[in-house]
Amino acid sequence: MTARINSVYAQKYQPFIKWVGGKRGLLKQLLPLFPKEFKNYHEPFLGGGAVFFELYSLGYLKDKKIYLSDINSELINTYNVVKNNPIDLISNLEIYKEKHSKDFYYETRALDREDGFLTISELERATRFIYLNKTCFNGLYRVNKKGYFNTPIGSYKNPNIADEDTIFSASSALQNAIITNQSFVKAREVSNEDDLVYFDPPYYPLNATSSFTAYDSNCFLEDAQFELFEVFDTLSDDKVKVLHSNSDTDFIKDLYKKHNINLVTANRFINSKSSGRGKINEVLIKNFGV
Ligand SMILES: C[S@@+](CC[C@H](N)C(=O)[O-])C[C@H]1O[C@@H](n2cnc3c(N)ncnc32)[C@H](O)[C@@H]1O
Repeated sequence: MTARINSVYAQKYQPFIKWVGGKRGLLKQLLPLFPKEFKNYHEPFLGGGAVFFELYSLGYLKDKKIYLSDINSELINTYNVVKNNPIDLISNLEIYKEKHSKDFYYETRALDREDGFLTISELERATRFIYLNKTCFNGLYRVNKKGYFNTPIGSYKNPNIADEDTIFSASSALQNAIITNQSFVKAREVSNEDDLVYFDPPYYPLNATSSFTAYDSNCFLEDAQFELFEVFDTLSDDKVKVLHSNSDTDFIKDLYKKHNINLVTANRFINSKSSGRGKINEVLIKNFGV
C-alpha cells in the first residue's frame, strides 16, 4: 500500500466525495485570506474537506498536527476507512459499481433502517457511504427525523463509484490526521496559541425558504450559531488564529462585528429549483490581520 500511495504524491489531493456547501469553488478567493504561518491545523466542520485537501496540496500542513472532525458519524467512519484501508475499500466499491442499479441503490440506502446497521463492519459502512454519495441526487447527504438517509437516486449515466486515484491520494494526505466524530465545541480542547482553526458550519439561513441547515438530523440555527460565536471568542482569547465562513446576513455580521469580515462571492443553488443557481455573497470572518 505504501508504494501505491507514494506513487500518487505528485498529484493534487482532493475530496473523494461531493458535499453540499463544499468549498471547492471558493478556494481561489479563500486561500489568500489564510495565514501562511501557524502551528497545528483544526477543521471541526470537515464535510468534504476541500480546504484541508487544498492546504495539504500546497504544503501548508507539512510537519503539523492535523485535527479533522465532524458530527456526522458515517462521514467520519468513511474518512477513517479511506485513511486506514483504501485497498479493501476500492475492491468493495468495484463490486458495488458492478451491482449498481435503481433496485441496488434503494436496497443499499435502506440498510440504515435495519436494527443491526451499526454492527455492519466499518469497511462496509464506508463503501455504502461513498456509493450513495456518488449515485444519489446531487451528492446530497440528507436524513429524515429518524436519522435515515432519504435522498433519492440521481440520474448519472456513468457515476465514478470506484475513484481509485482520488481515494489513494486522499488516503496519503490523511496519514497524519487525527479524525474524530465530535461536535465543534471540542475544538477548544486541542487548540493552542498560534494554531489555525477553520470553521465552516451549516450557514445561517438567508431567509426562511433557504434554510438547508439540517446536514445531520440536527439543525444549526441561532442557538448553535451563538455557541459557535462563544467558541470563536474563547479561541481568540487564547491567541488561536480562527477563520469562519458563513452567510452574508445581518445576524452573522452583527454577531462578529468586532472581527475582520471579508466578502467572497459564491456560485450556489439559492433555492430548490435549478433556476435558483446564482452568485451570492458569503463572509469569511477572521480574528487576525486585515
Ligand atoms: C458546510 S459543511 C462543511 C463543508 C466543507 N468545508 C467542504 O468543503 O466540504 C458543514 C458540516 O458541518 C457538520 N456539522 C453540523 N453540525 C455540526 C456540529 N455541531 N459539530 C461539528 N460538525 C457539524 C455537517 O455534518 C457538515 O459536514
